[in-house]
Amino acid sequence: MSRTYKLAVIPGDGIGPEVTAQALKVLDLVAAEHGVAFDKTEFNLGAKRWHATGEVLPDAELASIRTHDAILLGAVGDPTVPSGTLERGLLLKLRFELDHYVNLRPSKIYPGVPTPLANPGVVDFVVVREGTEGPYVGNGGAIRVGTPQELATEVSVNTAFGVERVVRDAFARAQARPRKKLTLVHKNNVLVHAGHLWTRTVDAVATEFPDIAVDYLHVDAATIFLVTDPSRFDVIVTDNLFGDILTDLAAAVTGGIGVAASGNINPDGTAPSMFEPVHGSAPDIAGQSKADPTAAILSAALLLDHLGLPEAAAQINAAVESDIASRGTSPRSTEEVGEAIAARVAGGV
Ligand code: NAI
Ligand code: MG
Repeated sequence: MSRTYKLAVIPGDGIGPEVTAQALKVLDLVAAEHGVAFDKTEFNLGAKRWHATGEVLPDAELASIRTHDAILLGAVGDPTVPSGTLERGLLLKLRFELDHYVNLRPSKIYPGVPTPLANPGVVDFVVVREGTEGPYVGNGGAIRVGTPQELATEVSVNTAFGVERVVRDAFARAQARPRKKLTLVHKNNVLVHAGHLWTRTVDAVATEFPDIAVDYLHVDAATIFLVTDPSRFDVIVTDNLFGDILTDLAAAVTGGIGVAASGNINPDGTAPSMFEPVHGSAPDIAGQSKADPTAAILSAALLLDHLGLPEAAAQINAAVESDIASRGTSPRSTEEVGEAIAARVAGGV
């Protein structure tokens, strides 16, 4: 059986193109071994494009991206572009337009990875962050800006439909994992309107998943446990803003931004899902071959898993795991890390 997938590639800015090149190398290698191929279209979006034409994400390009089976993104953002232009106009627009309502962020402490935690135990959890609602929808505004009477609002939008679909996805993911545990994180003692909707929804969907153990934590308590007892978590489901913050904390305690991967997923398949490292464009190290491509490579594994190729994904994960376990202290270039992981993929680890 052979199949060709149409892959949209958005290398982006800074270290984005550097890490994406390594992820594509590993992806192509694994694909060939599993009898599939990727037909790639590269999209020139990000700071360079904005400087050249003033465009961020033209409709024609969005329409073209839509025709692909999946998207691999490096990172966008550059100090020469006004903050928010690319982040909102490109990244958030893609997530909203393509209905990426599941923002998936696995967190695992790989053996050999340095973690700031003294004795973390076995840490392997996944955060399912809602991706299309919450305070990120742009429902707000400001008046009397710059005066002492300035008024600014940023309204968190939560719909029964939006909460239910992401909660269902989280339960299904918990069902497929050995520990079968789901933790809702919110702040339902203070944010009572949205908090009660989330709590009622989890309680209702839980009746359909009797073998899943359900737990609830306020977001402030969750930040404590992520540091003091991260092994208690299996699947965390939470809203857009809490998820954004918790996943950066999770990345920091589980080995850092260099290994944190993510998927922006449309589980219904009405538009392509997008896979990207959690980190940004790292302008401070761009162009120096210092970026760790591991997060981008692990994002390619999430992409394979999403396309229904779990064996191919597992092959990348195993290669990364064994590379991390044997990492010494001498620095390696972006290409050297990519080559080392590719060699382990080719050699069956
Ligand atoms: P950042 O993640 O780009 O960098 C934070 C720190 O981590 C820097 O010191 C950087 O050198 C380091 N770092 C990041 N990735 C690394 C890697 N693969 N290997 C080794 N070190 C790495 O976050 P920052 O500095 O806040 O943002 C820089 C730009 O990226 C901004 O324009 C921001 O808006 C954008 N950004 C884009 C994201 C995306 O495309 N999804 C996500 C986060 C930020
Ligand atoms: Mg973030």
